[in-house]
Amino acid sequence: MFVLGLFTCIVLRAFSAQAKVVVSFDDCKGFFYKDTEPGGMDQNAKKICQKLESDHYYYATLYSVHGRIPLYSAYIFDPECSSTAGRTENWHIEPQTLIRKLEKKQSISSDYSDSGYDHGLLNPNSFQCDEGRIATFTLTNAAPMDESFNRIHWKNWERALRSFLRSKLDSHGGSATVYIVTGTVPDDDVRIPLKGTSEDPERVTVPSHIWTAVCYKHHLNDTNSFSFGYIGKNQLSETLSMLTLK
Ligand SMILES: *[C@@H]1O[C@H](CO)[C@@H](O)[C@H](O)[C@H]1NC(C)=O
Repeated sequence: MFVLGLFTCIVLRAFSAQAKVVVSFDDCKGFFYKDTEPGGMDQNAKKICQKLESDHYYYATLYSVHGRIPLYSAYIFDPECSSTAGRTENWHIEPQTLIRKLEKKQSISSDYSDSGYDHGLLNPNSFQCDEGRIATFTLTNAAPMDESFNRIHWKNWERALRSFLRSKLDSHGGSATVYIVTGTVPDDDVRIPLKGTSEDPERVTVPSHIWTAVCYKHHLNDTNSFSFGYIGKNQLSETLSMLTLK
């Protein structure tokens, strides 16, 4: 009975991730540099302020209902926690309210089974701490990433970015905020599950590229602020390039 109780508790916890579909990012615009969301995105995409049980928001996501993938997640780098996350398989299925709103428009875990694609997290768990880390494990923060791309190339870039940002923050005594947006470039020609592998195939768009834009804002001396970005092709071979940000 105790074991059952514990199990129920864990399951409830795993399913307790809330997300709030909103008409604007007003409640969570603080995750964007200068409170300003990136422009030029799909007008039908859903704005989501990502939270857990409480009304605290952890990051913001723009979610494509059509492609069933996030177009981007916007988040603030938290340097405090270890990079070894202890990856959880407890994917948050979004709460009933969101599910009703999206009407089966979300990707589900089985869409990815045996597809050769991982649930790649846009807001990476290694950039967050504690509850913020738990909040990254939601399907609205995940897009199909080629297994090798996700586990080798993108992971290496995340690791390099993380240690670079940590050392910068250290050298500035922490008096800076790092705003990051990580997004996808949807490719409607590639969708999973592949035809013939599922009764409900081609539900989820596979991005051709994954990109990250970084705004490092020093609080006291703007000559120490900087920004840059990079983009990678979502495939086995390493083709990452730097981006110039306007
Ligand atoms: C701001 O930082 C730059 C580069 O580190 C430095 O040369 C400059 O003196 C600083 N300005 C102030 C007002 O501290």
